[in-house]
Amino acid sequence: FAFTPDNRAWAEAQITKYPEGREASAIIPLLWRAQEQEGWLSRPAIEYVADMLGMAYIRALEVASFYFMFQLQPVGKIAHFQICGTTSCMICGAEDLMEVCKKKIAAKPHEISADGKFSWEEVECLGACSNAPMAQIGKDYYEDLTADRFAEIIDELADGKVPTPGPQNGRYASEPLSGLT
Ligand code: FES
Repeated sequence: FAFTPDNRAWAEAQITKYPEGREASAIIPLLWRAQEQEGWLSRPAIEYVADMLGMAYIRALEVASFYFMFQLQPVGKIAHFQICGTTSCMICGAEDLMEVCKKKIAAKPHEISADGKFSWEEVECLGACSNAPMAQIGKDYYEDLTADRFAEIIDELADGKVPTPGPQNGRYASEPLSGLT
């Protein structure tokens, strides 16, 4: 693994933002850029970032393995779905969303679909509990999901479309709600 020249220059600029001797503070943005470049974080990618920051590989791995946002194994080429399975989402239908994943993507979390396009996993609370159930795709939240709408989103992505993130139930009405004006 090596950063592209553009990413290398960007990473070097990030490191200069931190005081001498504190270069390791740049680890999260550098790991994130490596993941954006490759789709996931391989051991060589983590080693590369660790080398840039003068850190031991194990220290970089400790960070990479702590956060859900980092993927330590290959993911689907189009999307990796992170389904919140914590209390609010569980009560409001997270299991139904995971059933959709099992049918349309792969039977088990972190397996990649036969066409290579998708993968999925269950994660802990993503902080959108009032909009449960929800799923994260990359940087986007898809909220107030139903199993049917979630299945449609997967189909739309497979067709090369980009479904609009945010609430999927029309929660944001264009007209003010009565009593609030
Ligand atoms: Fe699902 Fe918090 S419980 S976002």
